[in-house]
Amino acid sequence: MVSQMSHIPHENQSDDALPVAVPIATKPRGFVKGVMAMQRNALFVLPRIAFTQPIVSGQVVRRFHMVMDPPSLRRVLKDAAADYPKSEESQAMLRPALGNGLFLADGAHWRWQRRAAMPVFAPRNLTALTPVMTEAAEAAASRLVGRTGPVDLYQEMLRTAFEVIAAVSMSSDTAIPRDVAHRAIDRYLTTAGRASVLDILQVPRFVPRPARLLGAALIADLKRAADRAIEARRAATRTDPKPLLDLLIEASDPETGREMTNEELRDNLLSFLVAGHETTALALSWSLYLCAFDPAVQERAREEARAALGARAAGAEDVPRLTYVRQIIDEAMRLYPPAAMVSRTATAPDRLRDREIKSGDLVLLPFYALHRNACVWDRPDAFDPDRFAPERAENINRFAYLPFGAGPRVCLGMGFALQEAVIVLATLLARFRFRAIPGRDPEPVMILSLRPYGGVWLDVEPL
Ligand code: HEM
Repeated sequence: MVSQMSHIPHENQSDDALPVAVPIATKPRGFVKGVMAMQRNALFVLPRIAFTQPIVSGQVVRRFHMVMDPPSLRRVLKDAAADYPKSEESQAMLRPALGNGLFLADGAHWRWQRRAAMPVFAPRNLTALTPVMTEAAEAAASRLVGRTGPVDLYQEMLRTAFEVIAAVSMSSDTAIPRDVAHRAIDRYLTTAGRASVLDILQVPRFVPRPARLLGAALIADLKRAADRAIEARRAATRTDPKPLLDLLIEASDPETGREMTNEELRDNLLSFLVAGHETTALALSWSLYLCAFDPAVQERAREEARAALGARAAGAEDVPRLTYVRQIIDEAMRLYPPAAMVSRTATAPDRLRDREIKSGDLVLLPFYALHRNACVWDRPDAFDPDRFAPERAENINRFAYLPFGAGPRVCLGMGFALQEAVIVLATLLARFRFRAIPGRDPEPVMILSLRPYGGVWLDVEPL
């Protein structure tokens, strides 16, 4: 367990050349202090050796393994995925809001929900959904024009990503009011995320989780809002492209022919809003932070964006030409993976490298530590979008870079999120210059997702 915090750059890197990182433990501290630190930032669970070794094993109440080794990650996420279901800890954390929707379901129930939602994310449909993203990028740009003084780009990106996912899920005429959903999801994720630390440590259930009790009222509000959106969608005339909710309403289980109940529809709708909203906003916020951190990178991306777009906002046809903008997003998600750690429970004995895995062991997949692991990456803490230049990206092991996970449970919204992030970032870079404000760097804090605590405050200069 974790400890004494100080910012430790990895060997051979000077501190001033590096963007912000999670302070890593240098010496062990007691159980109580460790729990308190993890309540604040779940990544404080990572010991320093997680950044230099392939697997770290130990026992805190229960046996655990942190896996940063690409072949072992391939085994857990893909080859032996059936023996490594999502852990009870992640289930306990998210089930109150997401029920048995796609994100948490298992087996046949998961399969048909995934099949039902898949057409929305098929490449042909993605192109049809792009105008919503272009519109949201244009709206973000208009909000920024007129702003004077520092702007919190994290809040701006949350709003932008929510507009996109709400329109794609429900269509704009039946949307849940943005403020209701946004506030409820944000408070819920924060409170559920904090309570989860007690679950990860397997503190017995009779110890109250005050944060989770607080979350109950918010969840009730959110569920009521989702139910209203489902009713409205059932009554609405059909549109093209179909919003996600229509596809789910029309879907039937190939094995039983049964359609989704209102409760299942609601679980899935909320799963999409939660999974698709903050994650994309985080990829964008960290990308903007990094562009301000390295003005030369920002300038190069701006030239590319302006050459491709002129005065227009980006659309689907521009995405293939915005390769450097995409590299910045890839590198931002390496340094700050929005889903910085996921977990599984081993349900069968196995071996990962030299480690014996017993049934019941907790298997942590800390993508944050994988993406900064010295066995896997050169200059792991440095910001260098050229790692993802097409000719170099080919050599990156598929299981060394996992912002979207991998295997059968790989993120369903991966193509969607990347398309949205490129469109929004290119549109903003073509029109504004972003400057860092000394002393206002965000702090990377993981509470379910890896957030820029304190906000991404930047000076925004229209061009
Ligand atoms: C940058 C943005 C995003 C990131 C980094 C991200 C990351 C992830 C990761 C790591 C997983 C796998 C979790 C695990 O294996 O335990 C996942 C699953 C999932 N994501 Fe995303 N996601 C993003 C955006 C989206 C969007 C936009 C949507 C929907 C519109 C979405 C929908 C889902 C769903 C439904 C799953 C569950 C898939 C399943 O279990 O079959 N995600 N995401």
